[in-house]
Amino acid sequence: MNLAVFVSGRGSNLNAILNSDELKNLISVKIVVSNKISCGAFEIAKKFGIEIVSVSKTMKDGFIDFNSLLHKLKILQIDLIVLAGFLKMIPIEIISYFENRIINIHPALLPAFGGSGMYGMNVHNAVYNSSAKISGASVHFVNEFYDKGLIIAQRCVDISDVKSPEEISQRVLQIEHSLLPFVIKKFIEKKVHIVENRVLLEN
Ligand code: GRF
Repeated sequence: MNLAVFVSGRGSNLNAILNSDELKNLISVKIVVSNKISCGAFEIAKKFGIEIVSVSKTMKDGFIDFNSLLHKLKILQIDLIVLAGFLKMIPIEIISYFENRIINIHPALLPAFGGSGMYGMNVHNAVYNSSAKISGASVHFVNEFYDKGLIIAQRCVDISDVKSPEEISQRVLQIEHSLLPFVIKKFIEKKVHIVENRVLLEN
């Protein structure tokens, strides 16, 4: 299965995908896309010899626009787009072309603590300040609204004893690193089904 991974930051989820034993020999990450010109995730991609590209809505030096990106994704015959910490909205043209083939990982239990502005530490601060006792990670389909696509899989973690939002972030990140490869594997095995507007994962 040909993957495109979209990132904005350090790339620990990209790293988890590339180093996953269960995905070994089953995936080929063809391209890593970022809205940044440089980021930690790009360094990881380079180590693996993966093509990197920076994308922007406006014409800027060193960036391509989303139309050119869509063209590139078609040429690379991408099967699945994985948003792993990508902070920009995906244009409707790409969402339509890759219908039900774009997934995102969110560091909380959706539909709570999602939506515009809910990214990175903003999420964990909100969870901490709510005094919630569990948090977790969600993988969902991407549509034209932030964090609103159907939820594919979730895992939770006890945070009743944490002393800071950073501690929540560490616990959730650990879960993310196994949840995302798990879901990608389900796609490879064609075990992700949408039935009556609910996502069912076959065992
Ligand atoms: C992760 O917590 C992910 O859920 C969120 O952004 C963070 C990205 O981390 N959307 P990394 O770049 O994969 O390390």
